[in-house]
Amino acid sequence: MSLISEEFYSVLASRMKASSIREILKIIQSSNVISLAGGMPDPATFPAEEINEVAKQILSKKSALALQYSSTEGLTELREFILNWIDKDNKKAGLDNIVITSGSQQGLDLVSKVLLDPGDIVIVELPSYLAALNAFRSYGGEMVGIPMDDEGMRMDSLRETLTQLKKEGKRVKFIYTVSTFQNPAGVTMSILRRKEILEIAREFNVLILEDNPYDKLRFEGEPLPSIYSLDKEGYVISLGTFSKILCPGLRLAWILGNKEIVGKIVIMKQATDLCTTIFNQLIAYEYCTNYDIDKNIESNIEIYRKKRNVMLNALDRYFPAEVIWTKPEGGFFVFATLPEYIDADEMFLEAIKEEVAYVSGAPFFANDKGKNTMRLSFCYPSEKDIEEGIKRLGKVIKKRIKK
Ligand SMILES: Cc1ncc(COP(=O)(O)O)c(C=O)c1O
Repeated sequence: MSLISEEFYSVLASRMKASSIREILKIIQSSNVISLAGGMPDPATFPAEEINEVAKQILSKKSALALQYSSTEGLTELREFILNWIDKDNKKAGLDNIVITSGSQQGLDLVSKVLLDPGDIVIVELPSYLAALNAFRSYGGEMVGIPMDDEGMRMDSLRETLTQLKKEGKRVKFIYTVSTFQNPAGVTMSILRRKEILEIAREFNVLILEDNPYDKLRFEGEPLPSIYSLDKEGYVISLGTFSKILCPGLRLAWILGNKEIVGKIVIMKQATDLCTTIFNQLIAYEYCTNYDIDKNIESNIEIYRKKRNVMLNALDRYFPAEVIWTKPEGGFFVFATLPEYIDADEMFLEAIKEEVAYVSGAPFFANDKGKNTMRLSFCYPSEKDIEEGIKRLGKVIKKRIKK
């Protein structure tokens, strides 16, 4: 019998469930299953040789700095580089507005730690990034979902919901949005809605947490300004990361926001990990200044665009007409909606028998809906596997279509 019984756990820890994606990944890693499940970048996009070169240089020339503790805010040069790189037209942010984190996942955790008390409401998209929902839940945040359409979160519904919550005396802390090439839906919020969400934030006095890991991975169409860059008053906290545009193994990301909030985050981060690894920050900084990160991103876009096209063409060929799916202009994901009577979770084992995996959509929905949806990632598998995986999945779905 285990010595540790349930009563040892905090109420919040008892409520947390294992991520179904991680469980799936464990099962399929050592098999012939073609996985359209995980959101891992293609390793072909990692500039491994260049990173090897800068790491060697750092260890031979700056080992005392690289192997030491460092400041909680993060390496000054790296923060300056990021500010100039992503905020170059705006110039509104200074060093007090940015903190380096160990991945955006830590950013989600720290923002929750700083802003949420148990019972506070977080507004999220339907569907929304699962690990963000878990971060909010882990601090007792309660999620209220807003439907999306082709232009992202629906502003009429957002306004209605906030009005209703206000009437009920509920405390809404922030609106969480993955504004560009959303995970899991692949949808991008239109410019009109980016402006409107800011108006709404102002009107209801709530913050916006804009999580933007895929923004630079645009395959077509005009780039849109982030909600953060449109904000003149400090309502938006923005998360950016090197994970999808350089490599996730460095675990490097940043939070940009008004300096009072960033200051609180820095204090909370001290209790979390003292500082993000300085060795990796030096690697990212030296890489970004000695090589051309934008050029690397451009070549990565080529890789992902081809994969996206293979997936969309395969979906047209092999999926039955009863299924619809999003057509992302960038990022990593396509989101498919099956007829209401098909439960993607129930179908999963059958798909595994056919040696293909996906992530069923329901856990991404904060309102227990979405049982007939699935996320299909085109980032990691080869073009050949994407084509074959969609073919296998089409076969599994067709068996369930009612005539
Ligand atoms: C929307 C979103 N936010 C945050 C993250 C976490 O990224 P990081 O590797 O920077 O922790 C991911 C990773 O998939 C993501 O899709």
